[in-house]
Amino acid sequence: MKSDHPVQIAPSMMCADLWRLPEILSELESIPVDLLHFDLMDAHYVPNIPMGLGVIESIRPHTELPFDVHLMVENNDFFIDKLARLGVQQVSVHVESATHLDRTLTLIRDAGIKAGLALNPATPLFWLDYVLEHLDFVLVMTVNPGFAGQKLVPAAMRKIAGCRDYLAERGVAIPIQVDGNVSFQHIPAMVAAGARSLVCGTSSLFHPDGSLAENAARTRASIGEGLALRPLVLQRPQREVT
Ligand code: DX5
Ligand code: ZN
Repeated sequence: MKSDHPVQIAPSMMCADLWRLPEILSELESIPVDLLHFDLMDAHYVPNIPMGLGVIESIRPHTELPFDVHLMVENNDFFIDKLARLGVQQVSVHVESATHLDRTLTLIRDAGIKAGLALNPATPLFWLDYVLEHLDFVLVMTVNPGFAGQKLVPAAMRKIAGCRDYLAERGVAIPIQVDGNVSFQHIPAMVAAGARSLVCGTSSLFHPDGSLAENAARTRASIGEGLALRPLVLQRPQREVT
């Protein structure tokens, strides 16, 4: 069951209690969420390894929800055909970890999977310049990758709005996904800045203070607030010139 909401909710599965996965999966389907976000890390590109290919393989046959894999690894190309064979629908790779980015994005598309480019908070948007033709979405990291439960980086909203303007100026109509501290408080501004796919972890969908259903309702309400706001104008950093 896939929902056709204007803003996607993508549960960050590394934040789910893996002991309760079957139950969580059926709750996610009844909400419904739009796709499942899997963070694949190799403990090299980022110092963490929350789940492996085996988790994706074991979940795949039990849901029809699309799988969104966020690669945070040194060797992106190694995973692409494996993920394709597992039946995932989209893969994002970090520009900072890709030696031959154009080739890697082409590999993803040739495998019949949607391709996303993930940008760390400090990475400028111009890295998109010569690969736009290969992209189905852009993943704007709003925290430094590798761990759940972090706080938004200060430039996050400015970066989302900047990415929205960058794509609009080039006539590229692909969604912006945001990942990291996507909280009930931050969602309205993220959506007003142009985010159309939200990776929801411990700050919203898996927030400890509510059930999945309660948190999903709060997330949808925050999205509605954001859609009702005027588009966030790009704020250049105000710095006192001393
Ligand atoms: C971090 C991962 C995120 C993370 C989000 O590198 O990409 O998906 O799990 O978790 P919260 O929402 O807690 O920041
Ligand atoms: Zn992620």
